[in-house]
Amino acid sequence: MKLWSGRFTADLNEIAELFNDSLPFDRRMYRQDIAGSIAHCTMLGKCGIIAQDEAETICAALKNILGDIDSGKIDISGAEDIHSFVENTLVSRVGDVGKKLHTARSRNDQVATDIRLYLRDCIDEQTDLLKTLVSAIADKAEKEKSTAMPAYTHMQKAQPTTLGHYLLAYANMFLRDAERLKDCRKRVNVLPLGSGACASTTFPIDREYTAKLLGFDGVTQNSLDGVSDRDFAVEYLSCAVQAMLHLSRINEEFVYWSGEEFGFLVLPDEFSTGSSIMPQKKNPDVNELLRGKCGRVVGDLMGMITVMKGLPLAYNKDMQEDKEPLFDAATTLSLSLKVFTAFINAVDFNREKMNNAAAGGYSCATECADYLAAKGLPFRAAHEVTGKIVLYCIQNGKTLQSLTVKEYKKFSPLFDDDILQAVLPQNAINRRNVIGGCASEEIDRQLKTLRNELKII
Ligand code: ARG
Repeated sequence: MKLWSGRFTADLNEIAELFNDSLPFDRRMYRQDIAGSIAHCTMLGKCGIIAQDEAETICAALKNILGDIDSGKIDISGAEDIHSFVENTLVSRVGDVGKKLHTARSRNDQVATDIRLYLRDCIDEQTDLLKTLVSAIADKAEKEKSTAMPAYTHMQKAQPTTLGHYLLAYANMFLRDAERLKDCRKRVNVLPLGSGACASTTFPIDREYTAKLLGFDGVTQNSLDGVSDRDFAVEYLSCAVQAMLHLSRINEEFVYWSGEEFGFLVLPDEFSTGSSIMPQKKNPDVNELLRGKCGRVVGDLMGMITVMKGLPLAYNKDMQEDKEPLFDAATTLSLSLKVFTAFINAVDFNREKMNNAAAGGYSCATECADYLAAKGLPFRAAHEVTGKIVLYCIQNGKTLQSLTVKEYKKFSPLFDDDILQAVLPQNAINRRNVIGGCASEEIDRQLKTLRNELKII
């Protein structure tokens, strides 16, 4: 039965019905829909809008419906959307009293409530997943805090650092993603139910009570806004995009690190696949997919923004298009976080290759300039002298570590024997003992801060 059959004399055209129905995708909100209905009905009973025993009958039936869906006893089908499915099933079980459930409510505030409940669960799950990932990366970083490697700018070797430092950069990104989701939750966790179709209701409802029953922090303050607001969905999607962007970036690094030219990363068998034709291949498919899925979630955000752009108040059916991108983004993000955490736990690195690469590309040139600057030469002049030394090395097939003190002295009298120590990558790393730096002691401090922050999110 349609929820709106009274005014109509003909059935909806078959294709129009298929086009209109959202059940195929909003069925996944059945738990939220039933929870929202139970709270609404409890409130109706408490406020005397329906009789207490009627409220109890409806709530008990709703609980049974939930159990029957959970156990697979009933199948979700044959209705326009999840809201009509639950209501139709209720009426078929308890008769006319079931028809009272929709008093002082519209599907417009109902669907907004369901989505918020659904997203709240996603946010809680994903905040935890992000925290687990951050702590997995932190553990790896701790293990690799003395593995030297080059830090890059413009994808060219820039300065020596450690793999621990590198990994912690990403740990900080994912930590911010968890914080961002937690902050977004505040705006998601507000109850729109009671906004009615658009201009609220004439019944003396108690919205604060319904909010409390459902664990919302408060209620929306304007009914037109309550039914038409999807800011929270756009915000959630941008949080999801941001986390996927971080996944995409680190996995891009892992893809090329796993190639022969870099050889920094040893792909675990459990996370790579072979080729159907080239027997030697071991491909970083999981990492590539993690990079690729970011594009998909960006698409979800774009879709959502485009649907909302230019929509007049209040509810418009366009808004039914909010769910597929939300569900897609949420599923993709959760799965991506799970697989990537497992990958991080399994991955190993080629320490020798990384250590050897650390000194390449004259990556200790800054140390040489700093050495002169510390001896009183203005940094700009020290930069100039070091540039000349690098040019000399390039022209003579030498490195900053293979030059003799005598050769250094030709460029400046300020050089002493200790310059040979200063340009060693390990010293370059150890001396960066400032907040944010890569010295081992500083990495310990960063790890401690990070792990403390994880505790308070
Ligand atoms: N299936 C609809 C949606 O997802 C529910 C709200 C329907 N409201 C309406 N006025 N037709 O948005």
